[in-house]
Amino acid sequence: MTETLFSGISHLVTPAPGSQRGAAMRELTVIENAALLVRDGLIAWVGAEKQAPPTPETHDLGGVAVVPGLVDPHTHAVWAGNRLADFEARVAGVPYETILAAGGGIRSSIAATAAATVEQLVTLARPRLAALRQSGATTIEVKSGYGMDFDAELRMLRAVQVLGHEFELSPTLLIHVPPTENREDYVRGVCETLIPEVATESLATAVDVFCEAEAFSVEETRQIFEVAQAHGLKIKLHADQFHAIGGTELACQMGALSVDHLEASGPAQIAALAASNTVATILPGVTLHLGLPAAPGRALIDAGAVVAVGTDLNPGSSPLFSVQMALALSVRLNGLTPAEALTACTVNAAAALGLSDRGSLSVGMRADFLALHGPDWRELPYTLGANPVRDVFVGGIKL
Ligand code: NIG
Ligand code: FE
Repeated sequence: MTETLFSGISHLVTPAPGSQRGAAMRELTVIENAALLVRDGLIAWVGAEKQAPPTPETHDLGGVAVVPGLVDPHTHAVWAGNRLADFEARVAGVPYETILAAGGGIRSSIAATAAATVEQLVTLARPRLAALRQSGATTIEVKSGYGMDFDAELRMLRAVQVLGHEFELSPTLLIHVPPTENREDYVRGVCETLIPEVATESLATAVDVFCEAEAFSVEETRQIFEVAQAHGLKIKLHADQFHAIGGTELACQMGALSVDHLEASGPAQIAALAASNTVATILPGVTLHLGLPAAPGRALIDAGAVVAVGTDLNPGSSPLFSVQMALALSVRLNGLTPAEALTACTVNAAAALGLSDRGSLSVGMRADFLALHGPDWRELPYTLGANPVRDVFVGGIKL
């Protein structure tokens, strides 16, 4: 048994365990002059330092704020090539969807990624995951989706599996864009070959689909989701990024873990999410980078939805390598309060991955936590462009 008491915590700030919706997202527990006892990687006790149980080993954090480790519930951190030319074209006025429809955008990342080996993909993704972790992400979801051909998709997931020895990752199979020809055959292959193989090899815990006018239809999404669920995989969805075509409603009906993007969601989609346990994951990096409308974070919380925030780290729509910055942007762009943003990036982001053992500094939870540079946790939603996170602890171990 290993036991360490973390002392010298000016303020310990945490949401309650489990996903939080509506007004409960603003209810944080704050303990002044706190201590945290970690036993074998889990939180064994939390409270005022004066009342801490005697422990042989103490780690004094020096009087700073401590918050739960952040969870990044949506990344495409594995890719090859770059999208710098797309970026230049977009800032000159060519829309993201036009670039994609002309065979650029995601399709150019697919060409570069499909040509890379597992080892090359690991080498490219490692520093991206390290940057996310330094910014406070103790658990990171990573999607495939730039493979298209099935072997390339599997190589992406194998790269995630290798990186899982160095980082705490949650792997997702993403069915991203349809081929320009033989689309029906592709969807059949996804259902009959790719998903069974991913399930048999335990290469992913969830299947995600990009449901959009330029990508997969609602009916194709339903087909893929049914097969995913039949293989014991969870489902997630990219929906309402440009058009609300019904994907959000389908995902809520089918019990998806999350629906992500939501920039084009209106009252019907907000109501569907609020009436379900499906997490509404918003991605402010996309709003900043593509200059598109922001997802209605404020309206979703006010309607009673479970809202999470992620980076959507990817080369095309969100080159955002900081989960702390995603948190900070959600306050500016989506109307979240600082307290809501912390809940969105911790317990709610964990719920978007089907994980209930992290995101809150409560007894029995994983000891994933952050020590900030200063005594006030609000540096986390406030700071732009510098890192307010001093130390990252995963399972009670400082990285
Ligand atoms: O989440 N919208 C679709 N997929 C990604 C973008 C991927 C890309 O542009 O390479 C997203 O924004
Ligand atoms: Fe995405």
